[in-house]
Amino acid sequence: MTQLELDKEKGRNMQSSKGKEHKDFLSLGELQPVEFQALLDLADKFKVERKSRNFDHQIPGTSIALLFEKPSTRTRVSFEVAVFELGGHAVVLNSRDMQLSRGETLEDTARTLSQYCHAICARVFSHNTLIAFSQAVDIPVINALSDLYHPCQIVADIQAIREVKKNLKGLKAAWIGDGNNVCNSFIIGASLSGMNMAVACPKNHSPLPEALVLAKQKAQITGSSILVTEDPNEAVKSADVVVTDTFVSMGDEAEKEQRLRDFMPKYQVNESLFSKAKSNAVFMHCLPAHRGEEVTKEIIDGPNSIIWREAENRLHAQKAILYTLLSHYAINVE
Ligand code: CP
Ligand code: NVA
Repeated sequence: MTQLELDKEKGRNMQSSKGKEHKDFLSLGELQPVEFQALLDLADKFKVERKSRNFDHQIPGTSIALLFEKPSTRTRVSFEVAVFELGGHAVVLNSRDMQLSRGETLEDTARTLSQYCHAICARVFSHNTLIAFSQAVDIPVINALSDLYHPCQIVADIQAIREVKKNLKGLKAAWIGDGNNVCNSFIIGASLSGMNMAVACPKNHSPLPEALVLAKQKAQITGSSILVTEDPNEAVKSADVVVTDTFVSMGDEAEKEQRLRDFMPKYQVNESLFSKAKSNAVFMHCLPAHRGEEVTKEIIDGPNSIIWREAENRLHAQKAILYTLLSHYAINVE
């Protein structure tokens, strides 16, 4: 069956996704708890299917633009492999090689991509770029990391926590360090899944107020609690999950020296701090890591670290996100 016939059969076409409940995937805030749970379940299903090399769930004939303004290893490769295994085609674009770099507008760029592709997945310096893309096109826009959020990472992370801890509700997750893009989406993800969240960061590196508002909305449904403190010991006390990330995110390089002074040594996850968490607590980091800065080698490479489970799950999570947003192209909808 051709793509056109497939589109017709499903009663939609590439330009008609406006009006869908969730066109985009920009922060995690778009989702309700039940939808987040469905996404995790689907990611689990993709994980099992891949082990048996069963690629039944497909969105054939779809082309996905993967646009990068910043470097990436995990996100780029996991998305490209995910699209391939879903039966689609990934068009990997570096913004430096595009007419964007010569001043073509964001809107014209997005509209052009939407003529050929069924979704735009972009890693951008400014979250506003994603908003501009989203407003310019009807196809889904997926945040592959912006200065404010990293939602795809958090689907993989919470999938990993659920695999290890089984039941998410009531777990305590402690974020230590920079209240950055990954932290902002983590807070929302924790609230969506019923986990209690404690964030410890210096005052001038707190999470985004909008993320806290979104998380509190979800928490009203799931019963999660959210604490923001400057005290890492308070945050990590009896935690089931301890998470950190770089102190110097992409785009923050000019502030590197000041940031290291702001965070070190107080917010480093080391044996002394980690020992205050539960004895079976897991350590998480989205990677890339800077051993000796935000975390010591003993912790990130130690027995409680689940960083490689997290990294692997990026692939299964990307598939779940793509499949959900493009389900009208699926050949095996359940
Ligand atoms: N965690 C993550 O997003 O890694 P990359 O920057 O390598 O994509
Ligand atoms: N906070 C980091 C995450 C990298 C995956 C950054 O934005 O650089």
